[in-house]
Amino acid sequence: MKISRLLNDAALRLLQAQIEDPAFEAGLILSWAIGKPRSFIYAHPDMELSPDEVRGFMELVERRSRGGPFQYITGECEFMSLRFKVNPKVLIPRSETELLAEAALFSLGCDQPFMDPRLFRVSKQGARRVLDIGTGSGCLAVSVAWYAKNILVDALDISEEALEIARQNAGINNVSGCIRFIRADFLSDQGFTSHKYDLIISNPPYIPRDDKTGLMPSVEKYEPEGALFADDGGLCFYKRLAGLSREILNEGGVILVECGFNQSASVQDIFQSHGMETMSIKDLSGTERVIAARMRV
Ligand SMILES: C[S@@+](CC[C@H](N)C(=O)[O-])C[C@H]1O[C@@H](n2cnc3c(N)ncnc32)[C@H](O)[C@@H]1O
Repeated sequence: MKISRLLNDAALRLLQAQIEDPAFEAGLILSWAIGKPRSFIYAHPDMELSPDEVRGFMELVERRSRGGPFQYITGECEFMSLRFKVNPKVLIPRSETELLAEAALFSLGCDQPFMDPRLFRVSKQGARRVLDIGTGSGCLAVSVAWYAKNILVDALDISEEALEIARQNAGINNVSGCIRFIRADFLSDQGFTSHKYDLIISNPPYIPRDDKTGLMPSVEKYEPEGALFADDGGLCFYKRLAGLSREILNEGGVILVECGFNQSASVQDIFQSHGMETMSIKDLSGTERVIAARMRV
């Protein structure tokens, strides 16, 4: 069958399934299925594909039509211009979380031209220790290890399956040597580390358990529940972190966390009630998405 005909059939199927941009997605899926860039596909509409290629492609289109996220179908995604493996045991890294990665790099002294210059910097020079709580795919831990120099990262998660993917992603991106993986329940385990950290980053689960409004069906149905929902109105991870900060944050250290679109004030209150000063960083849509905290001096 010709590429042009296949693309039409696939786009129609995706349209029936109410996928938002069916023609674009049909091209993406075909490009991935036959291992050629999209430009090649559009430049060769008359090229005939083999029955095996057609079958493989239509299977992927069917999976996408049932609502499975594209990244789980291909098993990979991009974050901070690096390649990451993903599967349904880990959250698909979000573009808004790149703001947290960029803030982390800024705090570690890396050049980030568009970052708010008032953002707190880690005061220590030389080798720094970073803790990533709820590492999932490892997208934050791996990006920070890749772009920052002279750091050691502890990447913690409750899920062994997530840690396995994070380990693979560290390997794919050649940073295994500076990341240690820790399996622990951050909310209840004591003594998961004997270190203090110069930078603590986290994109924890923060959707209130009883609030599923506004959640896209593909997120609710396909992404791991343990990566999404949190108790205490979605705030339990911030409370635990604030409570532990004197124990696990070095003097001059910085905490950076992602939060939900309406949680900035509550999260800042939590850190302030533990003697910390805070500030928020807005994402491109103007939402206060990242909260920075450090001990008041
Ligand atoms: C929102 S996801 C973030 C994943 C990744 N850091 C990212 O930004 O894409 C939250 C992660 O926290 C982990 N998690 C949930 N409960 C946890 C707990 N009690 N202790 C440690 N990690 C937990 C989940 O397994 C999940 O990988």
